Amino acid sequence: MYLVIGANGFLGRYCIQSILEQTDENVTATARNIQNLENTGRVHWEKCDIALESEFDRLLSMIKEYDRIKVIFLAAYHNPDLVEANPSYAWDINVTALSRCLNKMPFVERLFYASTDSVYGDSIDHYHFKENDPLNPVNRYGRNKAAAEAVVRYLEFHVVRFPFLIGTSLVPGKRHFYDNIVENLTNGKTVEMFENSYRSSLHFHTAASLLIQLMEMPLREVPPILNVCGDRDLSKYDIGLLAAEKLQVPEKLIKPIKIFENDAVFKTKRAVSTVMDNTLVKKVLQVDTIEFEL
Ligand SMILES: NC(=O)c1ccc[n+]([C@@H]2O[C@H](COP(=O)([O-])OP(=O)(O)OC[C@H]3O[C@@H](n4cnc5c(N)ncnc54)[C@H](OP(=O)(O)O)[C@@H]3O)[C@@H](O)[C@H]2O)c1
Repeated sequence: MYLVIGANGFLGRYCIQSILEQTDENVTATARNIQNLENTGRVHWEKCDIALESEFDRLLSMIKEYDRIKVIFLAAYHNPDLVEANPSYAWDINVTALSRCLNKMPFVERLFYASTDSVYGDSIDHYHFKENDPLNPVNRYGRNKAAAEAVVRYLEFHVVRFPFLIGTSLVPGKRHFYDNIVENLTNGKTVEMFENSYRSSLHFHTAASLLIQLMEMPLREVPPILNVCGDRDLSKYDIGLLAAEKLQVPEKLIKPIKIFENDAVFKTKRAVSTVMDNTLVKKVLQVDTIEFEL
C-alpha cells in the first residue's frame, strides 16, 4: 500500500495518478481538509495535519495493520516568501513535525521525501549539481529543506531532489502558475517570462512517474539521495515558448524579461539558476534521456 502524506497538492495528485497507472497498489492519501475529497476505487482519503500529533497517531493506528507500506512524504510549508515571513512556523512544519512523524514510522517498508534543487544554491556558469556536492541554499526555504533532508537520511529513508515542476493543476480550485499562463495565452494575452534563469525543469507528471518507478525498484538499487530532473536547462521563457507551441498560439505572446541577482521581483532571494546533473537517476532507471514534456 502507498501512503501519500500531503496528497492534495500539485505533485500529490500526480503521484496518485502515477501509482494507479504504474502499480496495482491501493493508496491512502492524506490532506488537512478532506471534506470535498471522495474515496474512489483504490484511493482512500484520511485527514491529517502533520503538526497535530494526535491526528498523525490516529493515521498510523489505521495503517499499521498493512505490511509493505510505501510512503511518499510531500507535506511542507514551502512558499519561499512565506517561509521567510514565518520562520518559526516553517521550521515547526518542515523540520520539527517531519522529524516527529518519521520517527514514528520505523515499520514502513520505504519512505521517499520530496526535496528540492534549492538545497544547492546558485549554479555558477551552468554547473550541474551532483548529489554529493556541498549544500549552499540561498534562502530559508532551502535551509529548511536541507535540515529536513538530514533528518530523513538520519532515519535511513530516501531523498529525491526535484527541480522546478510545472503542469496543469489536478486539484480543483487550486491553480498553478501554468494554469495562468495557459489562460492568458488562450485569451491572446502576453506573458512575461524570465529568459536568464535556468532550472532542470520537469512536468509534474514526469516527476511523479519517475518517483513511482524508483519506489517500485528493489530498495538496495536506489541511492539514498537522487536528483530527479530533466536533461535540459530551461528558462521560464523556454517553457513559455513550449507552451505557446503546444497551444498553437503565436510565440510573440511570450515576452522575455531578465532576472538579476538583486531584483526585487520576489520578496525573498532566489538562486538565479540551479541546474542539476541527472546522470545517476538515468543510470538507476536505465534510461538514456529524461525529456521535459508539457
Ligand atoms: N512544485 C515544485 O516545483 C517542487 C519542487 C521541488 C520540491 N517540491 C516539494 O514537493 C512537495 C509538494 O509540493 P507541491 O508543489 O505539490 O506543493 P503543494 O501543492 O503546496 O503541496 C504541499 C502539500 O503540503 C500540504 N501541507 C502543508 N502543511 C501541512 C501540514 N501541516 N500537514 C499536512 N499537510 C500539509 C498541503 O496540504 P493542504 O492541501 O492541506 O494545504 C499541500 O497539499 C513539497 O514538499 C515541495 O517542497 C516541489
